[in-house]
Amino acid sequence: MSDLKLGDKAPNFDAETTKGTINLYDYLGDGWGILFSHPSDYTPVCTTELGTVAKYKDEFKKRNTKVLALSVDGVASHKGWIDDINETQNTKVDYPIIADEDKKVSELYGMIHPNADNTLTVRSVYIIGPDKTIKLMITYPASTGRNFDELLRVIDSLQLTAYQKVATPANWKKGDDVVISPSVSNEDAKKLFPKGFREVKPYLRMTPHPDSK
Ligand code: BEZ
Repeated sequence: MSDLKLGDKAPNFDAETTKGTINLYDYLGDGWGILFSHPSDYTPVCTTELGTVAKYKDEFKKRNTKVLALSVDGVASHKGWIDDINETQNTKVDYPIIADEDKKVSELYGMIHPNADNTLTVRSVYIIGPDKTIKLMITYPASTGRNFDELLRVIDSLQLTAYQKVATPANWKKGDDVVISPSVSNEDAKKLFPKGFREVKPYLRMTPHPDSK
């Protein structure tokens, strides 16, 4: 059973995929990555999810984020199902899907939750930073399809807060005001945030979205 936590090194692996054998670290290169599992091929919710991810190809690319999907079905099954996804979701899946038939990767990442399902992966999401550490983990049950707009929003927040001394408030979207990290003094904030800031409370200081690094 995996005990992965935020900040841990993402375990590296070689895996069979619909695009041949992939080494996770080589595949991610210097960029960001999103690794997500789904329970099973030829199932309705998964079909809509993988189609949605294909449609968001340009959004992931803009964020320098490589996509990697996984289920415990085999490559031949994945390939047949991709045809169905392309047909029914009016898209083209061209990111790799891991065929984790021996459950090596699922177990490494704790994607099988035996009290939910003994054999199939749940809907896990891992966002991995350029330093190969885990920046975010979310787990959804099989019955709930993921909101990939939310995952893009989270990547925006992770990428901003990795390089600036800020945090993003509730329901934040790229472009909205951000919160200055509590560790930054007002004196330093004046230098770090030339657009200025608003002190609502000494611990709650808002500043316009900083320019990208
Ligand atoms: C689905 O993707 O529709 C699904 C997969 C496994 C269990 C329930 C739903």
